[in-house]
Amino acid sequence: MANVLVTGGAGYVGSICCAELVARGHSVVVVDDLSTGFREAVPPQAVFYQLDLADREKIPPLFREHGIDAVFHFAAKALVPESVRNPGFFFDQNVAGGIAFLEAVRESGVKKFVFSSSAAVYGEPRTVPIDESHENNPTNAYGETKLMLERVLAWYALAYRWTVVALRYFNAAGARDGIGERHQPETHIIPLLLEAAARETEVFTLYGTDYDTTDGTCVRDYIHVLDIAAAHILTLDLPEDGEMHVYNIGCGRPFSVREVIGAVQDVTGRKIPVRQGPRRPGDPAVLCANPAKLMRELDWQPRFSDLATIIGSAWQWKLTHAGRPSSVGVERAG
Ligand SMILES: NC(=O)c1ccc[n+]([C@@H]2O[C@H](COP(=O)([O-])OP(=O)(O)OC[C@H]3O[C@@H](n4cnc5c(N)ncnc54)[C@H](O)[C@@H]3O)[C@@H](O)[C@H]2O)c1
Repeated sequence: MANVLVTGGAGYVGSICCAELVARGHSVVVVDDLSTGFREAVPPQAVFYQLDLADREKIPPLFREHGIDAVFHFAAKALVPESVRNPGFFFDQNVAGGIAFLEAVRESGVKKFVFSSSAAVYGEPRTVPIDESHENNPTNAYGETKLMLERVLAWYALAYRWTVVALRYFNAAGARDGIGERHQPETHIIPLLLEAAARETEVFTLYGTDYDTTDGTCVRDYIHVLDIAAAHILTLDLPEDGEMHVYNIGCGRPFSVREVIGAVQDVTGRKIPVRQGPRRPGDPAVLCANPAKLMRELDWQPRFSDLATIIGSAWQWKLTHAGRPSSVGVERAG
């Protein structure tokens, strides 16, 4: 069993990964500043520190105190439109803050590092499905920050013999009992559609109906957060080879926005009021992963990522838990 330090473990993907780690008997230490996360999303078995990941005084001692074996680095600012409006903040948080954190890891001697990267590193695809050798040409500052930290990590792998795994998620979606997606503001399609289904918003705005796709709307590859968590946990078994590994996490079976609207209506039994809007700048027509490398090298398979299961879990969470505290964990002074 491993002792894993998880940054961003109070956020959407990080908290679900913490719950899965705990369920498999691993020990979890969470570092999160709660800037976009929720304390109650951290599982009660995890030790929690409310800290900025760039805190060069308080983070280094945690590695020895908790005998950390591996780091899962989820913490980041991740709202794409905000990154375009305010790039300096994103480079400061995700890149400068990220490097300060890497230095704390280096001093600790821990050599296994798993990084939450993104399909945003590819930009407008030249070929689909996208494999890891596709060129990197981000179309927003958020994607650029992810690519920059990947590149920094490649140099750390070379210099310090770190085993680094960069997992490039496509569209994370779905929920685990008690934990689901809560971003403020929400920009992701499935929670926005569920807000419309729950009548929390009057209408769902469909951005762009004139793309070169079968029904004119954008096409995306949705991946259940439980399948993302499973990929993270598989990395714990990778031998420490001192190399940088990059993997896509997606299903390779994309859906158009109109298909997602239809699936949400089927699952919820509610009609979604839809308003058509213009395209959003920087939205590629199609994003679809080729996940063959992850399947081959880590023996990973998407088990929860059919669209009905994703939407069903998110709807269940919305109906039963959204906004309510689910647990209270071990607190340490940050
Ligand atoms: N959700 C997706 O579809 C998706 C897709 C691709 C990649 N990712 C990446 O996965 C990771 C998690 O995404 P998410 O959707 O769970 O986001 P989230 O905003 O829900 O979680 C991020 C967590 O990091 C914490 N955090 C942010 N800045 C911090 C700092 N400076 N110090 C300490 N903690 C800090 C936040 O409080 C939050 O709990 C991010 O790195 C994101 O870029 C997410």
